[in-house]
This record gives sequence, C-alpha cells and structure tokens, in this order.
Amino acid sequence: MSTLITNIGELTTNDADLGRRADAALVLDGDRVAWVGDAASAPAADERFDAAGRAVLPGWVDSHTHLVFAGDRTAEFEARMAGKPYTAGGIARTVDATRAATDEELAATIRRHVAEAVAQGTTCVETKTGYGLTTADELRSARIAAEHADEATFLGAHLVPPGSTADDYVALVCGGMLDAVAPHVRWADVFCERGAFDADQSRAVLEAAAARGLGLRVHGNQLGEGPGVRLAVELGAASVDHCTHLSRADVDALAGSATVATLLPACDLSTRQPLPPARELLDAGATVALASNCNPGSSYTTSMAYCVATAVLQLRLTVEEAVHAATKAGALALGRDDVGHLAVGARADVHVLDAPGATHLAYRPGVPLTHAVWRKGRRVR
Ligand code: NIG
Repeated sequence: MSTLITNIGELTTNDADLGRRADAALVLDGDRVAWVGDAASAPAADERFDAAGRAVLPGWVDSHTHLVFAGDRTAEFEARMAGKPYTAGGIARTVDATRAATDEELAATIRRHVAEAVAQGTTCVETKTGYGLTTADELRSARIAAEHADEATFLGAHLVPPGSTADDYVALVCGGMLDAVAPHVRWADVFCERGAFDADQSRAVLEAAAARGLGLRVHGNQLGEGPGVRLAVELGAASVDHCTHLSRADVDALAGSATVATLLPACDLSTRQPLPPARELLDAGATVALASNCNPGSSYTTSMAYCVATAVLQLRLTVEEAVHAATKAGALALGRDDVGHLAVGARADVHVLDAPGATHLAYRPGVPLTHAVWRKGRRVR
C-alpha cells in the first residue's frame, strides 16, 4: 500500500541534497519513503493525503526516556517548586514502586506513555531500565523496554540500591546482571555523577558492557561538572546525556568527537537547574540532540515539541537547529541511519504539523500542533 502526501507547504527532509523545500510531496510505500520531490511531478499512489499547505517533518526521535517505571512523584515535584533541590535521591522511591509492580502494570504504563508520545509526533523512542536494580528486576525491565520501544538501554548503574555498597553493586552490574540483560538490549548507560557512580566505577561498567558488544551512552554533567563527558568521549560513547554543567574543555572534547551531546531542557527546567550551553556546543561544532528524558522524577513529559520550543526560546537554537536536534541528531545518538530524515529508503516516519512551517513550534509554544503522524508507514494519528 502506497500513500502520496502532497501539497506540503514546507518539507524538512534533513537530507543534504533534498534540503528544506516548499510545494513538495512524498510517497510512502510499505514502511519506507519511496519518493520525495516537487508536488507537481509526484507519481500516483494507492492513497492520497492532501497536506493543504501544512508543514511536514520527520517524526521526532526521542533518544532518552525512562519509561519502565511505576508510581508517582508529584509530592517531590511540588517540594522542588517550593525550593527543595533535586538530588536524584527520589530514584529510590521509583525503584520501590517498580519492584512492587507486576509485569502487566509496567507494560501498561510504558504503552500509555509511548502512545502519548506518538500522538504528539514521536515515531522513534529509546527507553531504559534503571528502576529495578536487582538482576531479576533489571532483566524484566529490559524485556519490557525492548518490547515496547525502538531502542532499549541497560541502566543498572543508575543508583547504588539501598543495602548495597558501591563496590559490591558495581561488581554485580559488571558480572551477572550484564550477563542476564545484555542479550535483550543494544545499549548500556551509567549515571556518572557525584552521589551515583564515580569515574572509575562508571568506566568499569561501560567497559564490561562494551566487552559484551553493547553500544555506550552516559548520563553526565547533570548536577555539576564532573568526569562524565570526558569519559564518554574517551570511550567513544554514542551520546552523553544532560550536559548541563560543562567546562570549556568538555565543550571542546565534544566538538572534537563523534559523541552526541544530548540536551534535556525539560529536565533542567523541572529540576530548576541552569540551562545547558547549547549555543556554545553548536558554535564549537558539537552535534547536539534534544530528548524528553521522560521519567516520573526529573522530567515528566513526553512532549518533544515542548523541548524544541524551549531550545529555541531559551537555549537560543534556530528553529532549524532545534528540529534537527530532535530528529536527525537523535537518530545519530541512537546510531540509526533509517530514522530522523525523509529521503528515499528512510523509514516512513512522518509528522504533519497543523501549521505552514516549523517556526510555529516555537512561535505557538504549548499549542498542540500535531495534525497527522505515520510511524513505519502506518497512519497512527
Ligand atoms: O535522567 N539522572 C538520572 N536519571 C534520571 C532521573 C530519574 C529520576 O529522578 O527518577 C534523569 O534525570
């Protein structure tokens, strides 16, 4: 079954040759893009969708979420808004609730959040374990993550669980836990931050994961400057996420590497952190991605449009840079060349905005602008 999407007002392709174009059309065939060009020369297809001058983008690639969880941390959020600092200690509350939940409850929760994201134009989602912190709980989290998201990441090294020492826990993560979980995920991550895992412990986890063939990602420099960015770059991680507190040396290290700096502005706002030096990173030549970091503690939103608007209004990205960060750069952070762009052969992940151009994402912040969504060639909204 093929679909011609025509009368596109502004088409963002993220493709060097096709660029951003007016009066465009594209054809989806099965789960792939089959044709892109001027509306006037578009081929026929089984079905026709008239975009009526609306803007079309690749679906959002949300490269950082924590959707395998149970419970709620509204009280912690309220306390934060009243002035209490975010310390990541609340992760333990979500661990308790997640361990107590059934598989069906966890699956229903992730399904609900993925559906919520898709309805807002997200077509590729990464998600993580990290609220289990025992071998059995991390294993079931990994299975659920892999079943419901496009990319699954092992984050056993999220926090040292109460009752364990850091050394004992790191030994478990690097040994039996990774043995059990590695077959179910493509990525491993570590929370390299004061109060979580230090540079040596983080390195041990990442090297053990790499030895099992997993790609690497790092949570780094969220609550203060630290070794996360440098470690991620040194070990060739696909991305280092948060990057809120960066030294000039961190910016230069990212600019000189293939490691994507994934910024999570919704998290910085929700935890009353400063905003990351996005302009500095881009001007230095680093690749910058945007992701929601959806989780019940530090960033409870699935809205990539909110992240894009924030990036433009507060991080001073251009609309084009912000859209690229939320699509193509997210794909790079996930090592994917099939999503985040619209060219022949790409996955048919299409987001039609109820607006003539992508600028409206920042010009009309908070307004639900998603008009239609195709994910893997299937109309899902
Ligand atoms: O990315 N930084 C660590 N992990 C999550 C927070 C999770 C939580 O507070 O529950 C994050 O912000």
